[in-house]
Amino acid sequence: MYTGEKVRLRAYRKEDAPKAQAYINEPEIKRLLGGAPFPLTLGDEEKFLSQQSAWNDTYSFAIETLADDYYIGGCGLNRLDWKNRVVEIGIFIGDKAYWNQGYGTDALKILLRFVFEQLNMNKVSLQVLSFNERAQRVYQRLGFIEEGRLRQERYVDGSYHDMLVMGLLREEYEAVQ
Ligand SMILES: CC(C)(COP(=O)(O)OP(=O)(O)OC[C@H]1O[C@@H](n2cnc3c(N)ncnc32)[C@H](O)[C@@H]1OP(=O)(O)O)[C@@H](O)C(=O)NCCC(=O)NCCS
Repeated sequence: MYTGEKVRLRAYRKEDAPKAQAYINEPEIKRLLGGAPFPLTLGDEEKFLSQQSAWNDTYSFAIETLADDYYIGGCGLNRLDWKNRVVEIGIFIGDKAYWNQGYGTDALKILLRFVFEQLNMNKVSLQVLSFNERAQRVYQRLGFIEEGRLRQERYVDGSYHDMLVMGLLREEYEAVQ
């Protein structure tokens, strides 16, 4: 368990599945994540959670508020490259009432600490849809640099959208600690 100023990152529990399913099926969140436009079943979510284990190099955290131990979303590692020491991360705050209050920034600070100081990665990478300005604002604030643009990479709500590739190097992370 890793703690910040507003949230902690903890392992998922079986009982998180119904809430996780509701969060991930919420239309605006689905749109911002750019995933498949089909609702996930509870069984899908339970299967996903049951596969999360350090034994097979999958690391997903539930994000929980420090104030009232409320599960608000998740973050974790999508692709982990031990040789090149690059990892791709993802995040969502599933309860929209908690957007724009610093919870996502705090969760990502903890995740970056985990990635650099526990897993000894050299670089964190991520992809974000070009219209997801809130997420870009958060990534920029944490020091991520835009490294490229995958043109028309995702088809969302009837049109194609670019995907931005952003990265943060260990030396850049350490410079602001
Ligand atoms: C992206 C996300 C993780 C950010 O978490 P959060 O807790 O809402 O973000 P924070 O409160 O820490 O910071 C949000 C910042 O974006 C700013 N912001 C909000 N809407 C914005 C917009 N339309 N354009 C630009 N900036 C915006 C806020 O003002 C705030 O900046 P400030 O603190 O300088 O004022 C969260 O909103 C989320 O999960 N969204 C849905 C899923 C998603 O987009 N995931 C990322 C996929 S790449």
